[in-house]
Amino acid sequence: MNIILLGPPGAGKGTQASRLESERGMVQLSTGDMLRAAVKAGTPVGLQAKAVMEAGELVSDAIVSGIIGESLDALGDETQGGRGAIFDGYPRTAAQAESLDTLLTERGRTLDHVIELVVDEDALVARITGRFTCANCGAGYHDSFKQPAVAGVCDVCGSTEFKRRPDDNEETVRTRMAEYRAKTAPILPIYEARGLVQRVDGMADIAEVTAAIEAILDGQS
Ligand code: AP5
Ligand code: MG
Ligand code: ZN
Repeated sequence: MNIILLGPPGAGKGTQASRLESERGMVQLSTGDMLRAAVKAGTPVGLQAKAVMEAGELVSDAIVSGIIGESLDALGDETQGGRGAIFDGYPRTAAQAESLDTLLTERGRTLDHVIELVVDEDALVARITGRFTCANCGAGYHDSFKQPAVAGVCDVCGSTEFKRRPDDNEETVRTRMAEYRAKTAPILPIYEARGLVQRVDGMADIAEVTAAIEAILDGQS
């Protein structure tokens, strides 16, 4: 099974993808995470992407579709036990949606569901600007909604180092949202026409959102 999680910045795509990964043995493919890793490693892709990401604009379609193709190759053949993919933050433009169709078809995969996380954009700014992660294991936290049990210590690995994304300031978040409205939301009708889109209330509790997505994947809603 291969699915897309679609929603504006802060909708909970990454949160839900990592929960589905641990609960269902699928693999999260986040272009944002891959691009951040490339920036950190200073690869040619990272060098091209850094300033664009810091401005909250979109990296080129060719770059992101290239890294998704490589990631799908690494997952292997789905008919031979290769795991299903959860696309998080991809596709983001009509051109990427078209590339994804090709990438999947070439690998004998099909797209099963497009799940739109429906959210209130104003609440998202607070979600994003309060977000931080463990620098060691990547566990996610929030200034208001999810502090570590012991202040300054990661619940998962005990690290005391945390980090924030450079694009998580209010101005850049507004640009990211405008990019979503202008370029990403318009791809929903493409998938609606194919009967693939289902909507989930992304403002519900994290566990409730996961349960709603799982009901869709299990064909119960
Ligand atoms: P990317 O990394 O994809 O960022 P984004 O889409 O802006 O989304 P976020 O990662 O900020 O939000 P999310 O939906 O994952 O929410 P999260 O689960 O973290 O992209 C970054 C940049 O890379 C782009 O701007 C672009 O430059 C580039 N890029 C990436 N992909 C690209 C592509 N395909 N094409 C071109 N460029 C690309 O949740 C947010 C916070 O809310 C967390 O603190 C979380 O704990 C909390 N939270 C989550 N769910 C809930 C809930 N139900 N209730 C309360 N709190 C919640
Ligand atoms: Mg994310
Ligand atoms: Zn940690």
